[in-house]
Amino acid sequence: MLQLTYISTAAPSLSIYDAEMILETSRRNNSHAGLTGLLVFDGTRFLQALEGDQIPVEDTYLRICADTRHRAVVELSRRSVNARQFGGWAMASQVIGPIIGKGDIVGTVDALTETIPEPNTRALFRSFARLRAAWPD
Ligand SMILES: Cc1cc2nc3c(=O)[nH]c(=O)nc-3n(C[C@H](O)[C@H](O)[C@H](O)COP(=O)(O)O)c2cc1C
Repeated sequence: MLQLTYISTAAPSLSIYDAEMILETSRRNNSHAGLTGLLVFDGTRFLQALEGDQIPVEDTYLRICADTRHRAVVELSRRSVNARQFGGWAMASQVIGPIIGKGDIVGTVDALTETIPEPNTRALFRSFARLRAAWPD
């Protein structure tokens, strides 16, 4: 199974509605493609992990890279995993971090990542949330 993680920057024009549409589409498509993962949006950046069979992961990632609702997509890791790390979720993409203000992105992401078995993957999502929380408003 392939697990791919990337970070990207939302288009300046991205609205809450756009973000909700991205989540809805992702849940629907990923469910059909047998993909699991986690998508965290902190209002500025997206951090997403996708895992599943290689071809659907690659196909989905190509579509994501071509999407003009974000830019500067940087692949952080690409590795094969024996078992799903995000399989605890029946369904694909998860959170949208608080879009406006800090909210409780740290608490939300900590709770969501509790079941991720691999420490580095868990730490990646948790430090992303803390980085955002540390920024001045
Ligand atoms: C940050 C971000 C994450 C996305 N994640 C997914 C995803 O996990 N799965 C997916 O199918 N599409 C995802 N998309 C949407 C795709 O870029 C594309 O719009 C969509 O797959 C097209 O699906 P449709 O042909 O069913 O409309 C994402 C887009 C963005 C900007």
